[in-house]
Amino acid sequence: MSAPYEYEADALIAEDIAAYLEQQREKSLLRFITCGSVDDGKSTLIGRLLYDSKMIFEDQLAALEADSKRVGTQGQNIDFALLVDGLAAEREQGITIDVAYRFFSTPKRKFIVADTPGHEQYTRNMVTGASTADLAVILIDARKGVLTQTRRHSYLAHLIGIKNIVLAINKMDLVDYDQSVFDRIMLAYRAFATEIGITSFTAIPISGINGDNITTESERTPWYSGPTLIDHLETVEIDQQASRARPFRLPVQWVNRPNLDFRGFSGLIATGEVKPGDAIRVLPSGKTSTVSRIVTLDGDLDSAVAGQSVTLTFADEIDCSRGDVIAIADNPPQVADQFEATIVWMAESDLLPGRPYWLKLGTQTVTATVQSPKYQVDVNSMEHLAAKTLSLNAIGVANLSTDRPLVFESYADSRTLGGFILVDKLTNATVAAGMLHFCLRRSQNVHWQATDTTREKRADLKNQKAAVLWFTGLSGAGKSTIANIVERKLTRMNRHSFLLDGDNVRHGLNRDLGFTDADRVENIRRVGEVARLMTDAGLIVITAFISPFRAEREMVRAMMEPGEFIEVHIDTSLADAEQRDVKGLYKKARAGQLKNFTGIDSPYEAPEKPEIHIDTAALSPEEAAELIIAKLLGEEG
Ligand code: ADX
Repeated sequence: MSAPYEYEADALIAEDIAAYLEQQREKSLLRFITCGSVDDGKSTLIGRLLYDSKMIFEDQLAALEADSKRVGTQGQNIDFALLVDGLAAEREQGITIDVAYRFFSTPKRKFIVADTPGHEQYTRNMVTGASTADLAVILIDARKGVLTQTRRHSYLAHLIGIKNIVLAINKMDLVDYDQSVFDRIMLAYRAFATEIGITSFTAIPISGINGDNITTESERTPWYSGPTLIDHLETVEIDQQASRARPFRLPVQWVNRPNLDFRGFSGLIATGEVKPGDAIRVLPSGKTSTVSRIVTLDGDLDSAVAGQSVTLTFADEIDCSRGDVIAIADNPPQVADQFEATIVWMAESDLLPGRPYWLKLGTQTVTATVQSPKYQVDVNSMEHLAAKTLSLNAIGVANLSTDRPLVFESYADSRTLGGFILVDKLTNATVAAGMLHFCLRRSQNVHWQATDTTREKRADLKNQKAAVLWFTGLSGAGKSTIANIVERKLTRMNRHSFLLDGDNVRHGLNRDLGFTDADRVENIRRVGEVARLMTDAGLIVITAFISPFRAEREMVRAMMEPGEFIEVHIDTSLADAEQRDVKGLYKKARAGQLKNFTGIDSPYEAPEKPEIHIDTAALSPEEAAELIIAKLLGEEG
């Protein structure tokens, strides 16, 4: 079998290598994703694209060359079936790891194809592959038509904002290249596509195995007058072209300051165009200036567009740092701290509403908490389901809030300024990908009310410094007992304190909460907020909650003024706590009558560096209380 593609490049390489390299550099890049399962002929199709376009995927190039030298032929003589087998095997090995990216090139364009597994349990892989794609090839087996997985893949591709959808109706050879089969599938797909908001797509009848309509027009489908798959891939308009038409935005990656009179702001232009003399605005501060120069390694430019990395200098000295966004002055993006978003959950452990995660959007990193989802989407039927959390591969819509204002645009308008990821603060793992819909009006209408009586005045009046003694430890460790003694002693010393105790708070404010991870997160979030208000009132707050998770304890620490949060680990071994078992709860838990009991079937994450560590085997409750007060007043002194 020989490659049918006219490959003029060979001649050019031989004649004029410089011209060839220039041509390569000028070529646009199309990133696309293939959706379908191996049964649909995905590996065959990808193999065919690579093979017929005389694929050049870099890691295999060397091997191919060695191979062709051995048999004394050109690269296109590698065996097609072997290539496909190899791709399928590679796919299977890579299936649980990630997305396979392959590179190939034709005379008109360069391509990166993301190949992801098609099953529902790999939704996160597909979302990863799709997140940078300009186009999706949805594969259909002509014998089977539109299936549940076709719908799921289309929904996901649309959700991720892929505007170009190709419906590759494959295995036409197995239905005798019958036009009516093709038409029927196309109409069925159109009905579904319209329903989910896909306004246009390109349907192409192909046969991966025989190569029909992939790189050359097939004589076996005379009734089809559209482009071949490669024609379409080579000529379709890519997002980058569209994003040039949008208003100018540049998320700042770093600030250059090689000498005192040069201060440049560098980054990749997300959308639009910029010229020297343009009036710009820096967000979130809103400060304005004018662009003086567009600096690149190859010299200054008269203009730069989306997709280019540049350094801008301004006419005025204004503050601008990493994470800021430089925008056209009269049409800037919005700034807000509460949003509605679609979230694709990608971690093995569920979303914990209320837990702080890092949110990364463009070059901005903030802390975000997600509320309980409004609903989850069934990716097969697109139905909305009630949900309290999101598990691996689940997609839902939820409100979220950030600790600092974000410069953003809706995902529909800008993937760069509307797409984000959530990262676990302790493990640094990416747990979710998200798409901002819009900001909530309340984030713009509710402002912090400044009061004349300050927190310092309130504490001064009480002759003390506000503080939080945050007790943490297993149930039965003695938190409440020691906390009670501490409060009694402080009261005798005329200190104004308040004890918040787990069992008590769960009778009132938090009576709606149980002991699932999510409820514990919310329990601590609320207690943290209450403790924060009490420190504003100038009180010494003592809290006695198991507070089993490091992330929430750190969240509360971050809510307080520096030095105000004193973590007290009441450290008892599980064996000791269980032996004491004052409330008889351990016995119940061991008997399976009490679920999610801390230390038994629910985790306890001990503090790594508590301000105070109390070993209950070494100290009596009285002694422990003395030590805590000594430490607290030492801090105060
Ligand atoms: S926390 O984990 O959310 O911080 P909290 O301190 O409010 O827990 O409540 C713990 C108290 O609730 C325990 O001391 C115990 O008396 C009671 N309790 C009831 N069920 C459980 C459970 N499954 N796990 C832990 N404590 C429980």
